[in-house]
Amino acid sequence: MKVTIVGAGNVGATCADVISYRGIASEVVLLDIKEGFAEGKAMDIMQCATNTGFDTNVSGVTNDYSKTANSDVVVITSGIPRKPGMTREELIGINAGIVKSVADNVLTHSPEAIIVVVSNPMDTMTYLTLKATGLPKNRIIGMGGALDSSRFKYYLSKALDKPSNDVSGMVIGGHGDTTMIPLTRLAAYNGIPVTQFLSDEKLKEVFEATKVGGATLTGLLGTSAWYAPGASVAYLVDSILNDQKKMIACSVLLEGEYGQSDICLGVPCIIGKNGLEEIVSIDLNDEEKELFAKSADAVRAMNGDLKSVLA
Ligand code: NAI
Ligand code: 2OP
Repeated sequence: MKVTIVGAGNVGATCADVISYRGIASEVVLLDIKEGFAEGKAMDIMQCATNTGFDTNVSGVTNDYSKTANSDVVVITSGIPRKPGMTREELIGINAGIVKSVADNVLTHSPEAIIVVVSNPMDTMTYLTLKATGLPKNRIIGMGGALDSSRFKYYLSKALDKPSNDVSGMVIGGHGDTTMIPLTRLAAYNGIPVTQFLSDEKLKEVFEATKVGGATLTGLLGTSAWYAPGASVAYLVDSILNDQKKMIACSVLLEGEYGQSDICLGVPCIIGKNGLEEIVSIDLNDEEKELFAKSADAVRAMNGDLKSVLA
């Protein structure tokens, strides 16, 4: 199975690293516009092979899309990352142009590929990719919920003082500080609702910490995070390539689900060899429904800025 990652920066290279050492794909191609950069990242990763014991072939190319031919999955992480003080929304103008041209180029050589969109503002970039390519909705998946959910579980585990892997939980809505919705009501510690262990006040703190999880790291690192984002993309790619049918919160086109249409937004999805295989319906309570509607309004407003790019 072949995966192309466009953008060999922090997130793209970390994703390639996780895919290779976990043996998720037999071949990974990293592509970047910076001369020699993807080649260098690929060489560095390949020099781990004998220490970590993987057989994936990772190669790097400078803007040569012919080397990406016949990829099963293409991940788009090209673009500029958020700088301190910059909102994801401010990235839109720059990243929209990049994402659109990348999508056109990859499809020329891999017409059957499933595309995973990571570049921010991710929900809007996913919508842009869908509109610009005209591909069926199952083949365009935005990654954000997998990351936000892993941050949610991290903050829950800290509050519970228990291991993250004993915690389950999901974040739906937009991948933005003001648009994501950590579902505290449905989170569980080994199947037991966390509401039995954590006070409303504590859960509110977890909710708020999760929402600014990306911004907290951007403040600490001086650029946006990459380990958890890269690992989250690899987790999603694994479910596609190995037909795992995992339930992962992903940004996908809604056509009436959750009361929304003509928008890509984070909802629980079954992810398998066909990409998006099913949107799972959850019975949201009134408060959650209201948050979801507000999230959709914010993302829809941002999608309005795509008019000139899509014209
Ligand atoms: P980075 O700056 O480390 O890497 C971006 C790479 O894209 C650079 O190497 C750059 O040369 C390359 N690039 C730019 N234009 C290109 C083009 N036209 N073709 C090919 N390559 C091109 O940035 P980082 O940290 O890897 O972030 C990448 C994107 O992912 C950003 O938009 C960031 O906001 C987003 N992101 C999204 C997350 C999510 O959960 N959806 C999580 C973390 C980051
Ligand atoms: C993150 O959540 C900025 O989307 C990026 O880390």
